[in-house]
This record gives sequence, C-alpha cells and structure tokens, in this order.
Amino acid sequence: SRKVTTRRLTEMKKRGEKIAMLTAYDYSMATLIDGAGMDVILIGDSASNVMAGNVTTLPITLDQMIYHGKSVMKAVKRALVVCDLPFGSYQGNSKEALCSAIRVMKEGHVDAVKMEGGEEIKESIQRILCAGIPVMGHLGLTPQSINKFGTYSVRAKDEAEAKKLIEDAHLLEELGCFALVLEKIPATLAERVAKELTIPVIGIGAGGGVDGQVLVMHDMLGITQGFSPRFLRRYAQLGEEITSAVQHYISDVKSSDFPNESEAY
Ligand code: KIV
Ligand code: NA
Repeated sequence: SRKVTTRRLTEMKKRGEKIAMLTAYDYSMATLIDGAGMDVILIGDSASNVMAGNVTTLPITLDQMIYHGKSVMKAVKRALVVCDLPFGSYQGNSKEALCSAIRVMKEGHVDAVKMEGGEEIKESIQRILCAGIPVMGHLGLTPQSINKFGTYSVRAKDEAEAKKLIEDAHLLEELGCFALVLEKIPATLAERVAKELTIPVIGIGAGGGVDGQVLVMHDMLGITQGFSPRFLRRYAQLGEEITSAVQHYISDVKSSDFPNESEAY
C-alpha cells in the first residue's frame, strides 16, 4: 500500500485511527517491521543503548545515526521514517542544527527528524522547518537531558512542569511540527495535550488517551534484559528464544550432531 505521509498521520488523528510507531535501526528488522504494516518507524537515538551498548543516548554521533538511517531506508516501502537528531547536533546553534538535519535527510534518506525539547530549541526547529524538513517534537522525559534530570522517573507530575509542557506542546504545533512524542508523563496530562492539539500526539508511558503509541523494538520483543518499566508490554520473549537457539547450536556442534549428511555437500 502507499507510503505513509505526515499528512496521512493528521488525517488518522482526525478519524480517531490510532498510529502505531516502533523503532528500527537495521535493514533486516526494518524489513520485518515495515512488512508487518507499521505506520511510523523511528530510528531512535536509543540505538546508543540497544545497538552500541552505551548507558545513555548521549554518546551516539550524527554519523552513526546516518548509518542506521541508510540501513533502515533500504528496507522501508510503506512506513514514514523519522530519525532522531542526536545530542549535541542541534542544541544551542540553529545553523548547526540545520546542517545536522540536512545531513540526515541527504545522506540518511529519511522522511523527517525528531528533536527533544520545546522553547529552548525553538530557533533550531524554526530553521529546520524553513528548509522544508518535517520535524517531530519530543517532550516529557527527554533522555538527552538525563544529566539535568538525574533520573528516568515520570516527568511533569508537579504543576509548574505540567504547565511548561502544555505551553511547549502548543509552541511546537504553532511552529509547524507535524507530530509530538510525549514520554513518561501522567496519562491525564498526555490526554489533555492530545485533545488540545490538532497534530498527532504519540505516547510512550503516557497512557491510552493519546493518538498513537511508540516503543523501542528491543524492549517490546523481549530482547532487552533487566528493563521492565510499568509502561512496557512485551509481545515476545526473543531474548529467551535466542539464548536457547544459540545454546542448542553450540551443543549440536560439540556433539557433532550438526552438520548431518543432508547438510553436507
Ligand atoms: O530513541 C527512541 O527510541 C525514542 C523513543 C523512545 C520515542 O526517542
Ligand atoms: Na530518542
């Protein structure tokens, strides 16, 4: 079926049709995820954690994001593909932000970029939008600011932070962002934002009152070990499956069961 566009996402929100979004970082998994009918694929900077093994999302570079972007784009036929701008590539300097976004679009061939923050990165968002590059916002728990927060716990529980989040959400819509991710905030607050905005609001740990959901692929497939926040639903136990398959292979090699005659030339 035809390629998903930012416009189609807005229509989906209008119709009350929920938007499904999932991360992907490589060609093989993106082939499966796109083939399954995903609406939006996110090349998240969570690649820093699940692909590169870093503790935070901060170390991943623009070049590494572009590498993941290229790999995913070779696979995707239908989904809208959004790529995170990594930490340090857009904050504080809007010209540098535009250069980063242009590199991701030109070299990574993705459809849109995602950036964390509201008022603080307003100029960067404006400049990128002026170049015709679609921008997805990201508010609430913003992992690139983990060193400021000091914790991955639920955000915007107090009135002041909730008020700022609502203001930032409206600002992002007014600037022209095509959608917004809300991460780990109270469900009532997320629902209010989704109702007040006309652009789609995609939640992660933000309850069911929003316009769509996003998860990290390795988490929802049960590949990630020792990470089980309340918001995470596991749709498979691939970690266990992979371990047992690999153990089976090792034991077949050791016992000379593999390869057998039919597996030899
Ligand atoms: O990097 C990522 O995977 C994300 C999602 C969790 C929204 O930003
Ligand atoms: Na991210």
